[in-house]
Amino acid sequence: MKLRILVTAGDGIGPEVTSEAVAVLKEMAALGGHDFAFTEKRIGGDAIRNDGTPLPAGTLAAALESDAVLLGAVGANEFNSLPPEKRPEVGLLQLRTELGGFANLRPIFAFKEIEANSPLRPEVIDGADVLFVRELLGGLYFGHPREWDRANGQAWNTMHYTRDEVARVARIGFQLAGKRRKKLTSVDKANVLEVSQMWRATVNEVGAEFPGVSVEHQYVDAMAMHLMTRPREFDVVLTENLFGDILSDEAGVITGSLGMLPSATIGGKVNLYEPVHGSAPDIAGKGLANPLGAILTGALILRHSGGLEAEAAAIESAVRKVLEQGFRTPDLARNGHQGLTVLSTREMGAKVRETVKEQVVHA
Ligand code: NAD
Ligand code: IPM
Ligand code: MN
Repeated sequence: MKLRILVTAGDGIGPEVTSEAVAVLKEMAALGGHDFAFTEKRIGGDAIRNDGTPLPAGTLAAALESDAVLLGAVGANEFNSLPPEKRPEVGLLQLRTELGGFANLRPIFAFKEIEANSPLRPEVIDGADVLFVRELLGGLYFGHPREWDRANGQAWNTMHYTRDEVARVARIGFQLAGKRRKKLTSVDKANVLEVSQMWRATVNEVGAEFPGVSVEHQYVDAMAMHLMTRPREFDVVLTENLFGDILSDEAGVITGSLGMLPSATIGGKVNLYEPVHGSAPDIAGKGLANPLGAILTGALILRHSGGLEAEAAAIESAVRKVLEQGFRTPDLARNGHQGLTVLSTREMGAKVRETVKEQVVHA
């Protein structure tokens, strides 16, 4: 299998975690006789400093020529006072738009091995397995008008969706639910927002094409609570851009660390893969970052862009094994270090590679 992967490591912990993900993918390529070719390009604050823009033309061109893009994270404190269109984050939003992927898949698991790391009780999270399908190219992030009218002390953003934008992401949600536990929960605010009323009606229309999948609707405020009180009851959770952004970080509480969560964005010209977490400026450059979210994101590249299901599963199982053996980055060792071995970002990456190798060689 040949895969051309563009790596845009970005800011903060982005370079630290993506280099571990790339190293695991290289190990897998060597073991399986695959040809994964990696190219690196700048994005975000790193690109603003070097190229004067958060998404240089060369980065976009390379992204469009690749089979998959692996992004670390963007965002750095020095740019925090800039207007949205000048910040590192806009580079990521432009890249998402240009690549065209509208369905952002964010799988959330309660890993048995690290259940003690979640503030939720084991009996609440045990076995939780939720797949978020977050709409990624619409809603408040991209709607117009948008403006901060300083002179008059007012500001606007616009939550806008077309029926087609809702239908296409809903269809992906139903297709995925059909391959899982056949339940789709659509999250909206239809008791207040017209956009949500159209969202709900459209989800019901698309749902009629999938009689084998049951649909339920939840308001986003109640859903924030249900996720924490009964996460095991959800299978696929379909929602709009901003609600999905917020709920997926919240759902990280089920796993126990934001640093564990991967994502894949599908449906466009080139799939985009990014861990859910950000650039974590508070821990950047210290070897404290958990690379497992990025490594699991690498597994999603193999699954969704390479069709390499066995290889993807081998990486996921290696991650479980490493956790089972008591190896932790500091974010996963909050409940005391008894019986656990705390590793740096690079040591954790090395452990996963070692375990992948053992598994594949002994398979
Ligand atoms: P964040 O996700 O960067 O960090 C939130 C908290 O989680 C921090 O305490 C951080 O230390 C911790 N954390 C995150 N990832 C971790 C990991 N892999 N290992 C261990 N701990 C981890 O969110 P934030 O602090 O709100 O945002 C920082 C910057 O990142 C902002 O500029 C934001 O816009 C940006 N951001 C970028 C992306 C992206 O590029 N995809 C996603 C979210 C936020
Ligand atoms: C995410 C991030 C991004 C988003 C930011 C950095 C633009 O929070 O991927 O979850 O809001 O989509
Ligand atoms: Mn987010």
